[in-house]
Parts: sequence; structure tokens; C-alpha cells
Amino acid sequence: MADSRKILITSALPYINGVKHLGNLAGSMLPADVYARVMRLMGHEALYICATDEHGTPAELAAQEAGMSVQEYCDEQYEVQRAAGEGFALSYDWFGRSSRPANHALTQQFAHALEAAGLIEERVSQQVYSIDDGRFLPDRYVEGTCPHCGFEKARGDQCDNCGRLLDPTDLKDPYSAVSGSKAVEVRDTRHLFLLQSQMQDRIRDWVEASDDWPQLAKSIALKWLDEGLRDRAITRDLSWGVPVTSPDGSPRPGFEDKVFYVWFDAPIEYIAATQEWAASIDNDDAWKGFWRTDEGADETEYVQFMGKDNVAFHTVSFPATLLGSGQPWKTVDKLKAFNWITWYGGKFSTSQKRGVFMNQALDLLPADYWRWYLTANAPEGSDAAFTWEGFQAAVNSDLANVLGNFVNRITKYCASKFDGVVPDGGEPGEAEAWMAQELKTRLAALSDHYEKMEFRKAAAETRAIWAAGNEYLTKAEPWVKYKTDKDAAASGVRTGLNLAALFGVIAQPIIPGAAAKILDALNIPETNRTWPGAEDTGLMDALPRGLEITPPNVLFQKIEDDEVTEWTDTFGGEEV
Ligand code: MF3
Ligand code: ZN
Repeated sequence: MADSRKILITSALPYINGVKHLGNLAGSMLPADVYARVMRLMGHEALYICATDEHGTPAELAAQEAGMSVQEYCDEQYEVQRAAGEGFALSYDWFGRSSRPANHALTQQFAHALEAAGLIEERVSQQVYSIDDGRFLPDRYVEGTCPHCGFEKARGDQCDNCGRLLDPTDLKDPYSAVSGSKAVEVRDTRHLFLLQSQMQDRIRDWVEASDDWPQLAKSIALKWLDEGLRDRAITRDLSWGVPVTSPDGSPRPGFEDKVFYVWFDAPIEYIAATQEWAASIDNDDAWKGFWRTDEGADETEYVQFMGKDNVAFHTVSFPATLLGSGQPWKTVDKLKAFNWITWYGGKFSTSQKRGVFMNQALDLLPADYWRWYLTANAPEGSDAAFTWEGFQAAVNSDLANVLGNFVNRITKYCASKFDGVVPDGGEPGEAEAWMAQELKTRLAALSDHYEKMEFRKAAAETRAIWAAGNEYLTKAEPWVKYKTDKDAAASGVRTGLNLAALFGVIAQPIIPGAAAKILDALNIPETNRTWPGAEDTGLMDALPRGLEITPPNVLFQKIEDDEVTEWTDTFGGEEV
């Protein structure tokens, strides 16, 4: 085994406002989980941290719609999202909440450090104020007509039609999203501004020195830098969020009714959640080896997963917080960004109930089926379309026909003709030599795709290895040889069983549930389920002869045409 590396993995923190759809899953949490699993199987120390992103106007508005207090709403939705993550077998080492005390404390400390470094300034700015609601309307609390494209339901922070970022005071005909009232006016309000303009050069140097970022991430970061970094308000006139304090911990005068902006505190939760993880393993300092470069984190690789809309925040804003603090914080090394999964020509949409959501998906079929399809069709190079037919084909062909059949055929045959034990006798011949050569090149390619975080290629290579196993059986034909040469048949069955074990091992990152079933059926001890190294010879003869095996129950149920029809109806899978 190569040297063990220490790897920190985070996926963009899902907003608390409702259970996430399959597009969110496919573009951050799932690939992060697959990567974490591979790295652990390779013997590395991989820590996968995630959390719910609970502050900001989306949470408040969703709570209001649900008729609950924000705290109650977040408590409930945290539980829903935690359960959905568990249902999808996301192997978080910790799934935190940005509203917990650790994040409050750390967010306040960062603000104090940035202020001490001269990078924070109080400024008076103009905000939309609702006379009827008796409050300011930051971000999504105000809606109106987009000044750029004329869309009538643009939100204060962004226009969903043309995608431009907005300032609430830019909107034409603004109205309150709370009450609908048009009695709004612009008033002065005091906020803390982070002086990003002063950090332009430092951030550019840092981005340019990052040679491990895929193209999509780097080009987005450079585009923002080319446009010039603007100083931005990091506080809001809201009550739900991290309170603004003075260094002694008391409320900051003039900021009693304000909190930090959600995009300021959310990424800090990556660190706070790691602190909570450390406390949970009774080793309060364990987080430092991942985050403090003066405490070992310079030896850590930090990998982030996210949708492309999050890239600027992770390559510019969060680094500005970390670098600006003047403290030895770890910054991201590799950043994997995804495009979108599209739903019949449109977007997945929570409000229009279009698409499939994580909890609904699990009511239909086991997690592995979705995990496989969404990894094999990851929106990597471009957007990727979700279709029920594509899903059906991936499950029926790749999982049921290619992998499931192989395992069933060989284990059942072993049970009926070789007493259900790994047979002795016979020698490897031509078919085995062919298979050994296939494995040699394909396993190396598979590991390489994972190292490079190329998930579509990794899934395709995994499938190709399973398919080569079927081809091997066609060449070796143990069932034909059995009639004339029992030893030759024994050699074929033994090799086949070893391949089934190997196929289970390499299936673990993407379809952990089915992989465990296969490996359990073959009585493979936990310690022998690790990733095959490039120079692992003997893979085809690793199981002890005489080892008892049991054919697993049906591994994958095929998806029928009438199910596709039914689901298309239920979930509105038609062209928009
Ligand atoms: N909640 C954001 C989203 O879903 C992502 C937050 S990522 C973090 O788009 F950096 F803030 F943590
Ligand atoms: Zn617009």
C-alpha cells in the first residue's frame, strides 16, 4: 500500500429549506461520498464533513410558509436531511448544523481577526425597508422587476431568469416577500463591510498558485478576479443568524438587531463542524490537523465538492476570510465543480414540484440504483439529463445484467456442482491469462480516474471490468468443461468466484449496499475488502480453497416498463 495520506473532504452545505433533489445530490454530496469511500479503501485517512446551511432569508421564509418558528423549522428539516443522507449511505464522518454554537463562536472570531487586520469597515448603506412589516428587507425578502431583463419575480439578491446578481435596491417596483406590501422605501442602515478590494492581489496569487484545480473551477475564479473584487457587506438586518459581537463577546453597539450574512458564516461551518467531529471522538484537538497549517494541516489535502454556482464563494470569498484573518488556516487544494442535472429540458424545481427529491427516490428503489445512475451520468463535462429511460437502462443493463448475472451465475453453479465451496484443482490457462491482463490495465485506469475525480470514467471502467468477467466466463466455459475435465471446470469456477469478490470490492464506492451483499455471500472478511493495488498479482486466486460461499439473494430487481410509465406520470417527467 502506498503511503497513507490525510485527506479532508467537504461537500457544499445543503440549504435547510427543504429536502434536496437528485441534482443537488449528484453535484456535491454523492461524488464527495464516492471519493471519500475510495480514499478510505486505499488506506488513506479521509475525513468527510458536511452540515446543513441554516441561516439566511431562505430559511426564514420557508419557516414562515410552514407556520413554524425558524428554530423549530430548522430542527425538523435537519432531521429530514440527516435521514435522507443516511438513506443514501452518505458516509459523513460528521453532519453538522451551521446554527450550532461552535459556528457562532468561530464566525465571530473570524470577524474580529479580519477587523484587527484592518479589513473590516463600518459603512452606511441603503436598504429596502417595509413600512407595513416594520423591518428591513434584505436579499430574498424583497422581490420586484429585474432591471436587466424585466422578469417580474426577481429576488433581491439574484434574478432567477437572467441569473444576474442583484442588489435589492436595484429592483423596479419592489414589494415585500413577507406581506406582499408595496409600501417600501430605501433607508440608511449601518453594516460591516469586508474590504475584498484590498485583497485582490493576494487572492489572485493564491488562485494562480493552485495548480490542482480542474478547468471549470479555475476559470470561474479568474473571471471574478478579472471583474475586480468588490467590498461586500457581511452583515444583514435580520434576527436569525450569528449575532454581531465586539471582541469581548458583548453585542456590538449599533448591531444589536443584525446578524452575519449567511454566505459569511456558512463556509466557516466546514471548520466548526470539524471541531464538533473532534469533540465527538473525545479528541478536542483532532480538528487542527485538518485546518491549522501550524498544527499539521500543511500535510493534509483538502478537497471540496460543489455545484458550479458555488465556485466563486469557495475560490474567492471564503479564501478572503481565511487569508485575511492573518492566521494559519488551511485553504482548499483540489476543487471539483459540477454542472446541473436537467429534468426533461428544464431544471429540477422545488416550488414547481418537478423532479425527484431524495426522500421520494428512496421510496421507489434502494439507494444503490440511484447512486449508480447518478455517478455514471455525473454532470461533469456539461449538464446531464435525467430521464427515466436512461435510469432504467443503467439499472437493468449495468447492474442487473452485467454485475448481478455474473455473481449469480458463478455462485449458483458453485453451489450446485462444487458443494458451495471454492474448489481446488486445475491450473490457470489461456482464458485466465487474458483476464489477468485485462485487470492489470483496467484496475490501474480505474484508480487513476478516481485520483483525478473523474466519476463518469470511473463508473464506466468499473462496468468494463464487470463486463470482462462475463467475457472470461464465456471463454473459460466451466459448465462445458465439467463434463469432460472436472479440474479445468474447478479452475474456471475458482477464478470466477475470485472475480466476483474483486467486483464486489471495486463496487463499494458507488454501490456500497449491493457490494456488501456480494462480499458477505463470499465470506470475505472486512480486512480483505481494501482497494486492489496496481501490483496486486494473485487477485484471481486469493480466496482460500475450501472457503464456503452462499449465492446471494437477487442483487438487483429490474425496472419494468410500466414502472417507468407510472413514475413519469407521478413525477411529471415530460418535456417543458
Ligand atoms: N447552501 C449553499 C447552496 O446550497 C451552499 C453553501 S456551501 C458553504 O448553494 F460554503 F457555504 F458552506
Ligand atoms: Zn433578470
